[in-house]
Amino acid sequence: MTAPRPYDPLAARAEAASFFEDLWRDGDPWDLDRAPLDQERYARQLAMLGDRRYGRTLEVGCGAGAFTERLVTIADPVLALDVADPAIRRAEERLAGAPVTFRLLDVMDLDPAEEGPWDLVVIAETLYYLGWLHPMFDVAWLLHALHEATLGGGRLLLSDTISHDHGIMSHWLVRTYHDLARNVGYELEQRQELEGTKDGEPFTILLELFRKGAS
Ligand SMILES: C[S@@+](CC[C@H](N)C(=O)[O-])C[C@H]1O[C@@H](n2cnc3c(N)ncnc32)[C@H](O)[C@@H]1O
Repeated sequence: MTAPRPYDPLAARAEAASFFEDLWRDGDPWDLDRAPLDQERYARQLAMLGDRRYGRTLEVGCGAGAFTERLVTIADPVLALDVADPAIRRAEERLAGAPVTFRLLDVMDLDPAEEGPWDLVVIAETLYYLGWLHPMFDVAWLLHALHEATLGGGRLLLSDTISHDHGIMSHWLVRTYHDLARNVGYELEQRQELEGTKDGEPFTILLELFRKGAS
């Protein structure tokens, strides 16, 4: 157990950039293009979204574009953000010519209202990293700002792995982040729990699709 540190927003951003850049420097640390559990997760995410097409779409924490590649088949235009420069460069190469803009940006520096409104927001396997480095207040405020900037009838997809022995992905944290989405005003449309293993470790992935009521 480490002693709590005073929160420094600039230090948290610097830590995110250097931590994720280091992870992506020598390749994909999560093996997202090959791991069977991630392939199943992407298929479920796409199926949950696939009953219609989307206009302006935001993907937070896009990595090297593994899900973006699927997203562009149902959404146009897409803005995809990641805090790690090597990931963004790979994603740009992978999806050259597709209706997607990749941007190197910490989502905590995004102004969702200025860049929106959004028909769809996707945050997959990224929310628990925000909660790791930032106060719950800031995570809640980001979700509130995204809700405010979502079109009536627009959607939010949250997908997060619950780990049985990993602190930042503990079930009580992941479920609390998802509860925040409801508390800021999104309505839950669909929930799935995907059970599986990755590198021999058992995981549950909580997938939740939310909708903003027409205003
Ligand atoms: C586990 S990967 C998930 C990638 C992709 N969303 C997927 O579902 O396969 C998490 C990604 O979130 C990015 N990330 C973490 N914190 C971020 C932040 N504050 N702003 C933007 N991206 C962030 C990381 O660099 C990493 O690429």
